[in-house]
Amino acid sequence: MTYDDQDILTKDPLIDRILISSDELGRRVQQLGAELSRDYVDRTPILVCILKGAYVFLADLTRSMSVHHEVDFMAISSYHGGTESTGVVKIEKDLKSNITDRDVIIVEDIVDTGLTIEHLLSLLQTRNPRSIRVCSLLDKSSRRLNDVTADYRGFDIPDEFVIGYGLDYDEKYRNLPFIGVMKP
Ligand code: IMP
Ligand code: MG
Repeated sequence: MTYDDQDILTKDPLIDRILISSDELGRRVQQLGAELSRDYVDRTPILVCILKGAYVFLADLTRSMSVHHEVDFMAISSYHGGTESTGVVKIEKDLKSNITDRDVIIVEDIVDTGLTIEHLLSLLQTRNPRSIRVCSLLDKSSRRLNDVTADYRGFDIPDEFVIGYGLDYDEKYRNLPFIGVMKP
């Protein structure tokens, strides 16, 4: 944990603890970038950043990749039945790129029940990409309601509500340099 991480933690009474420090995030994202660069050598994949949560991850991931690639953005909202995601997603902002015959890497902040990513995958498959894979920073695998897996994932985390590094609580805390857990 850096001094900055500790400083933010002690100053904000709503953050319970740091789950993944900024140092750990930095190291793991570098590894993911290196892995993608090996797997996509001689390809020019399109990284599809799912807004808003994945914007910080995308910014670091793209700079850790040595293969040529493009980035594009998509904003979706999930319909919720109560507090749970139903997995039915509505496109708020669509891609600019035509992904037909392209290698697509979906960049997500977190896969929780898996319903959102499952729906998104079937939606993008209809556009006939050459390949499509999921790269998620976080995975709450114990919460999964289907058999969707992230092809690349940063960290498997316990079933707790997390914030920071792009992830929000009521649109705030996205700017935290670490992944933290809210006080219950
Ligand atoms: P899923 O359909 O249940 O997999 O929902 C995934 C989405 O729920 C993510 O893209 C996040 O937007 C949101 N989400 C799930 N868990 C958390 C969390 O702990 N913190 C912030 N957002 C979360
Ligand atoms: Mg999200």
